[in-house]
Amino acid sequence: MSLLNGKRIILGISGSIAAFKAPIILRLLVKAGAEVKVVLTDSAKQFVTPLTLSTLSKNKVYCSFINDDENSIWNNHVELGMWADLMLIAPVSANTISKMVSSNSDNFLIATYLSSKCPVFFAPAMDLDMHKHPSVQNNIKKLIEFGNFHIPSTLGSLASGLDGKGRMEEPENIINFLIKYFEKKSPLFKKKILVTAGPTYEPIDSVRFIGNFSTGKMGYAIANEASNQGADVTLISGPTNGLKINDNISVKNIVTSDEMFNKCKDEFVKCEVLIMAAAVADIKPLKVYKSKMKKSLIKSTLEINSTVDILYELGKKKGSKIIIGFALESVNSVVNAEKKLKSKNLDGIVLNSLDNENSCFGSETNKITFLNKKGERNVYPTKDKKLVAKDILQHVKQMF
Ligand code: CTP
Repeated sequence: MSLLNGKRIILGISGSIAAFKAPIILRLLVKAGAEVKVVLTDSAKQFVTPLTLSTLSKNKVYCSFINDDENSIWNNHVELGMWADLMLIAPVSANTISKMVSSNSDNFLIATYLSSKCPVFFAPAMDLDMHKHPSVQNNIKKLIEFGNFHIPSTLGSLASGLDGKGRMEEPENIINFLIKYFEKKSPLFKKKILVTAGPTYEPIDSVRFIGNFSTGKMGYAIANEASNQGADVTLISGPTNGLKINDNISVKNIVTSDEMFNKCKDEFVKCEVLIMAAAVADIKPLKVYKSKMKKSLIKSTLEINSTVDILYELGKKKGSKIIIGFALESVNSVVNAEKKLKSKNLDGIVLNSLDNENSCFGSETNKITFLNKKGERNVYPTKDKKLVAKDILQHVKQMF
């Protein structure tokens, strides 16, 4: 997964023979996890069909101001422009470049470009003499001055049969250009983040254990989001069921709190940030029976011990690392969370209150309050856990 994962991208295509490469760009963007909406000029349709592009993007393709959909009669370029995290116009012809400069909004692509607030990248493609022409060079310069990002044409053989500068950059390089942009912008890029997630199971005998109802969804959402933002993520996970995790996250599976403690110690020394979202069991049997105990014996023989408080132990070795803990509280939530923040030597703590039915174990949503060591308190509404992960990471970014 790259930083393009989850990004909303408008791919604008204008009339140039290089438009035959636009479906490759589209495929690479989709493969990288981006959601792509394509805008075609009329002349681009001579080179590549809307059907190909809508099949590959799994979205409708925008060709004009008028919408075929009966429910609404026009395509809203303002809405589309606002929707995007990034706009890429590839290939961009001399004609479209000129219209972008002069704001000649006679087609949907230019109207969308003018309405967008996101960064715009343009990859010119034209014959070498057109490309060299002072008017084109001047227009490219102006687009750069306007704050757009130029993906320069390359040298090579052109459709005219001539050799020279004017070829659109290769699709793979265009994608790398975009990734590099997001890398530079992401404060989490290459940061080493350790996340723990899920429950721990503390065996009683060969078939029974002490555990809790944690499903790991919150921790996995944090790990995925940190990785989407370019962090180098290691996830230590207790037993979970079918949760999706980005390919480039290093996952260490454990079962018991002792295993989690040992893995955490190994990984903590390497990380810059620890986010301890795991619901570590607080108690474990003093002795684990190898075979299945008779139920009549359990009550009289089961002795309970405390598990190690992993976060507390790691907090003692904090140094310059950022440590975020979780607090699950049912009474005096804020006071108790603040106590944990201090006693475990944390930079921040995510408070989950058990009084909210949309923020319990296993739910898709969560309602959190984020407290930091400066005494600041941010109360959030109930949100999808993926959005909660973004909120938590926003605090981490501010701590760097
Ligand atoms: N935690 C831990 N090791 C434990 C128990 C908890 O590292 N044995 C971590 C959790 O991952 C969480 C934080 O400590 O980040 C607080 O966990 P919580 O269950 O809210 O509190 P406890 O410290 O267990 O205290 P209590 O159950 O009394 O509220």
